Amino acid sequence: MEPRKGFTKKHCYLFIEVHVKRKQLVKNKTIYVCQSCGTSSPKWQGKCPACGEWNTYVEEVIAKETKQPQWRQDKGNSKSITRPLALNEITFRPESRINTHDQELNRVLGGGIMPGSLVLIGGEPGIGKSTLMLQIALMLREYKVLYVSGEESEQQIKMRADRLQEKIAAPSTTNDCYVLPETSMQIIFKQIELLQPNFVVIDSIQTLQSDYVESSAGSVSQVKECTSELMKFAKESGTPVMLIGHITKEGSIAGPKVLEHMVDTVLQFEGDRHMSYRILRTTKNRFGSTAELGIYEMTDGGLRQVTNPSEILISQREGELSGITVGASLEGNRPMLIEIQSLVSTATYGTPQRSSTGFDAKRLNMLLAVLEKRAGYRLGVQDVFLNIAGGLKVEDPAIDLAVCASIVSSFLDIPVSSRLCLAAEVGLGGEIRAVNRIENRISEAEKLGFEEIFISKFSLKGIDTKKFNITVRPYTKLEDMIADLMQ
Ligand code: TYD
Ligand code: MG
Repeated sequence: MEPRKGFTKKHCYLFIEVHVKRKQLVKNKTIYVCQSCGTSSPKWQGKCPACGEWNTYVEEVIAKETKQPQWRQDKGNSKSITRPLALNEITFRPESRINTHDQELNRVLGGGIMPGSLVLIGGEPGIGKSTLMLQIALMLREYKVLYVSGEESEQQIKMRADRLQEKIAAPSTTNDCYVLPETSMQIIFKQIELLQPNFVVIDSIQTLQSDYVESSAGSVSQVKECTSELMKFAKESGTPVMLIGHITKEGSIAGPKVLEHMVDTVLQFEGDRHMSYRILRTTKNRFGSTAELGIYEMTDGGLRQVTNPSEILISQREGELSGITVGASLEGNRPMLIEIQSLVSTATYGTPQRSSTGFDAKRLNMLLAVLEKRAGYRLGVQDVFLNIAGGLKVEDPAIDLAVCASIVSSFLDIPVSSRLCLAAEVGLGGEIRAVNRIENRISEAEKLGFEEIFISKFSLKGIDTKKFNITVRPYTKLEDMIADLMQ
């Protein structure tokens, strides 16, 4: 047979090279994974068909070998078969929740840590996630705690722990807190089997790396794999695990949304880095309400629990200033008195500016329109700046009335008494509407020494105002309320 024309030795090498490469490709299969939602595809795509995000596909290598379970490899065969149980066969022990000795965290979690739960705590860098977790680890005195850190060395952790023990978590000789600076999932599990801790903290999930996934730490497949292994460990051993997660530029927890679906509870640690108050919020909780809120203050000795938030949210002012009012709001089950400040001044440029911090800008525009149309204040030509003190974001409609009062007070330059607070929603017709749990709000205002509270007349149904030591003033119309307030 004639050799093919032009088929030289060089072509031959090229041919072999292509074959070898192709074989390698088959061995190390690569897929493209959306870094936003975790969808995978054999091809690169510009726009993710699942979540609609652009340029989120990243090539990741998946090892071809069949994956072995990492957690309890030897015990895989002895897995008992689960069977259905009648509801009354199951006994529930509420006392089994772990008390963290941190009332804020206990409340946010729905009454302590559930055994076998996986909790994810997210927050911006430097907000205090590591500090909070280390503090909790130190306060859990009767438990053996393992603090795994992929971000700091044992020296750094020791330094921080000493500082925390000085002030917040009292030093104790019986403390059983172990530190493991490690990122390999396999080594961590080996150490867990040796140590048998009752509580595990992972700082952070994005630094962990499993040998069974070849992509780099922090990628979607790594984060997913490590979380699912930790989930298996938590559920099988009944040991609670707390994961620290990073936040992306957009403010969501770095990693796919599936990460949030996998865990039992998602906590967000928020606050301004330049302000000392930090807020711990639940965005998902399988064992409790998501409406709860924890407040901390960052001090030089760690995070201090703020048990009476109203005291810090209301500034101590000297003399009375116009534009400042206090609204009785409810965050979860917790009543909170919040100071609202506004500044109304004539617009110097054509279009008046509206700016609000901590309050929905659309709702502010609506309230301005109501004040203009129903109460006759010409606010259309005014700049309006609204600020909720303390860096809080308030969604409770009960502060509408306090916002309206604050705007009118600034507009007319008449101060509102600092011994007065307000709690009602304002409707489009200028009507003052009832809000839920008014009794909690009234008693909180009373506790803090307020003398008067303005509420909706419709809130009065079924409550006895005589039992309070505070004057309750019911209204139905915004104009009437403002007329009384500004006299
Ligand atoms: P850190 O817990 O490291 O943040 P994260 O883990 O969320 O990235 O917190 C770091 C910040 O907290 C840092 O700016 C210093 C401050 N800090 C204090 O003010 N007081 C303290 O006692 C500690 C431990 C930290
Ligand atoms: Mg940290």
